Amino acid sequence: MLDAIGERFRAEFGGAPFRRFFAPGRINLLGAHLDYNGGDVLPMAVDRGIYLAIRVRDDGRFRLRSLDQQRTVDVAVGDVGERSRPEFGWAGYPLGVWQGFARTAGVTTGFDAVFAGDLPMASGLSSSAAIEVVTAIALDALHQTRLERQQLALLAHRAETGFVGVRCGIMDQFASALGRSGQVLLLHCAGPRWEHVPFDPAACEVLVMDTRKPRRLAKSGFNERVAQCAVAHEILRTHARDLPHLALYDEADLETARSAMDDVTFRRARHVVTEMGRTRTGAVALRRHDYEALGALLSASHRSTAVDYEVSCDELDVMTSVACAQEGVFGARLTGAGFGGCAIALLRPGSADQVAAAVGAVFRERFGVEAGFDLLRSGPGPGEVF
Ligand code: GLA
Repeated sequence: MLDAIGERFRAEFGGAPFRRFFAPGRINLLGAHLDYNGGDVLPMAVDRGIYLAIRVRDDGRFRLRSLDQQRTVDVAVGDVGERSRPEFGWAGYPLGVWQGFARTAGVTTGFDAVFAGDLPMASGLSSSAAIEVVTAIALDALHQTRLERQQLALLAHRAETGFVGVRCGIMDQFASALGRSGQVLLLHCAGPRWEHVPFDPAACEVLVMDTRKPRRLAKSGFNERVAQCAVAHEILRTHARDLPHLALYDEADLETARSAMDDVTFRRARHVVTEMGRTRTGAVALRRHDYEALGALLSASHRSTAVDYEVSCDELDVMTSVACAQEGVFGARLTGAGFGGCAIALLRPGSADQVAAAVGAVFRERFGVEAGFDLLRSGPGPGEVF
């Protein structure tokens, strides 16, 4: 990847000097759709992500190139504006981050950039957050703004919500920006506050299973869930107690307010409240290296996202249930927003090949599609690469 972005940079924009950076993607063990509800989440930065070769230019232009696309996006600094535009395409993510640096740090110069990734794009492993975070890390280094990692995560997050227009929570950008080797991030999104919890790769591995189903409805479906949660929260505030976030209510509150909610609103709220309980219990299991207990919570989380939150699909349901029936699997769930994309299975080291073969065979027969399988490890977090 490093060689490939270097070569492309030379071919496209002329030779050295340029600098290279990396930011990881993530999987999320527990805490599905909790970040924008003020809950706790358990993401782990992985050893795959987005690489960037970049050089500042001072003639008022940007040229952005992705290794897997033919077109170079060429934009004048003065045309970036306040919101992404259809012609920016994927380049809306880095341009949104640059706009944050322009607004908060007075950066005025554009850049030439080549991006490339080694994780499946748009499949629930946070490729967009990794693009944002790698841009933020690079601009911070190039302009010597010396921002803290969490400030970079917040700039990256604002690019996605304010500039690109997805109403996501902070999990993905924090997971990428604060990722550390051998550690899971326990992020309390209401603060935000966080701590790192060790993950033992000798006792448990993470198999990513890709349905290869594009997440077409993800943006509209995601924003709809955010709106439904806001409605549920408002009803709970007036009919149960006044708490600042939906994830802080308990099941007794839900019962108190149940008659004021329609069935869909009630089920959305029930997912959020019960998922918060699973995440807290899961963090305890993780600290004890109790991967059996953690796996059972993942599988329960999947059922809740499928039945109550309705962000799963047949492909993800089949994949996770077949995986869970295999020897050596602790549990499985969809990862990311859902609506297609990837699932993860936690498994005993050494069982991945057999699990992948069994899930792949059922998947092929049922959907006529070759699912993708990959063992992912926790990665070193973002930074400059030499
Ligand atoms: C997407 C969003 C995150 C989070 C997850 C669901 O990945 O970007 O903020 O809400 O979905 O847990």
